Amino acid sequence: MHKQIVMCYMISLLQISTGMTEYPCYFPCPWHNQTFGDYNHNFSETWTFNADGRTSTILIETRLNFICHQITEKFLILRLEGTDSFRCFSINYNPDIPLEFVMGGWNSFRSVNQTTAFTDVCEFCKVPNFTFLWTVGRTPPSTPLPPSLGCNRPSSCSPPGEVCDSSETIPKACPITTTSPPTTTSIKTTKSHCGKKHNTRSSA
Ligand SMILES: *[C@@H]1O[C@H](CO)[C@@H](O)[C@H](O)[C@H]1NC(C)=O
Ligand SMILES: *[C@@H]1O[C@H](CO)[C@@H](O)[C@H](O)[C@H]1NC(C)=O
Ligand SMILES: *[C@@H]1O[C@H](CO)[C@@H](O)[C@H](O)[C@H]1NC(C)=O
Ligand SMILES: *[C@@H]1O[C@H](CO)[C@@H](O)[C@H](O)[C@H]1NC(C)=O
Repeated sequence: MHKQIVMCYMISLLQISTGMTEYPCYFPCPWHNQTFGDYNHNFSETWTFNADGRTSTILIETRLNFICHQITEKFLILRLEGTDSFRCFSINYNPDIPLEFVMGGWNSFRSVNQTTAFTDVCEFCKVPNFTFLWTVGRTPPSTPLPPSLGCNRPSSCSPPGEVCDSSETIPKACPITTTSPPTTTSIKTTKSHCGKKHNTRSSA
């Protein structure tokens, strides 16, 4: 059991080191089953990540169901469920603080009948004009304020904006804990996600 977890973690590291595109994508494991609130707006907005790791709901006045479409470097491209509407979010995520992340948005674009990964994301992942700090619960964030997004343009793009290094990524794995062994169900979830990712991902 432990070996499988470690293997899964190593596959994640491999993906990290290649700086490729994951499609279809899964949200970072620690986010699954969690509801984040937007610290900058007094938690008036929430983002819930479902157990399947692929679907999520942002509540901002209205209910927006977002599916993880693709992750390229540190950019999360989401599809508004059942539509041709997409968003590109720049993410700053430190897995040592698993229930907190900074997001730049709100790059919105349309693409009709998109069933593959986007190969050129420069057009969509523009310099964000909003920064969100998402945290679970109402505890004060551990991230220094104001939250920093870091670089905000994919490595293949040119300025305006701060162009990222291709090694920038969104860490995906759940932290390996040595104290408490994970439950059987979480092992199943992790395994199946790793398998799907490994089999279906395509490179940019
Ligand atoms: C933040 O939200 C809490 C609870 O909903 C409310 O009591 C408080 O007044 C709000 N603060 C601001 C600055 O809006
Ligand atoms: C998108 O798919 C629908 C249904 O298959 C088709 O009718 C439509 O022509 C497609 N649109 C484009 C722009 O490819
Ligand atoms: C952010 O950018 C989008 C499109 O680029 C624009 O529609 C929106 O009004 C901008 N928001 C702010 C606060 O500048
Ligand atoms: C999320 O919840 C489901 C159902 O309770 C569970 O099977 C799964 O292991 C959980 N995932 C994580 C990452 O905790």
